[in-house]
Amino acid sequence: MTYVVIEACINCKFTDCVEVCPVDCFYEGENFLVISPDECIDCGVCEPECPAEAIVADTEDGLEWWIEFAEKMSEEWPNITESKEPMQNADDIIDQEGKKTLLSEKPGEGDE
Ligand code: SF4
Ligand code: F3S
Repeated sequence: MTYVVIEACINCKFTDCVEVCPVDCFYEGENFLVISPDECIDCGVCEPECPAEAIVADTEDGLEWWIEFAEKMSEEWPNITESKEPMQNADDIIDQEGKKTLLSEKPGEGDE
């Protein structure tokens, strides 16, 4: 089992989640984060930290696409362990639906 970042993170990236992970298994894209399914130890500590409720357990239905995306991008994107400023307008779009089409595969900056 692993925890999974889902659509609500897109274009928000509050990054409260990365600070609490005991195994530093978050990876940063341009407008999204993924959790490495191979490294996550399923502790659940990050899940309540996300203001957008974008982190869920993989026991929920319909997460196959997000898990596959996380497997792929965690091999390509840089590691992130320290929180940073959220993306511009993150608070305004925290509840916005239909953001999946905006998801970028470009890498983020990771820890600076
Ligand atoms: Fe890290 Fe635990 Fe969240 Fe997995 S569930 S990403 S190990 S904080
Ligand atoms: Fe994304 Fe939530 Fe973390 S918005 S960066 S999963 S705190």
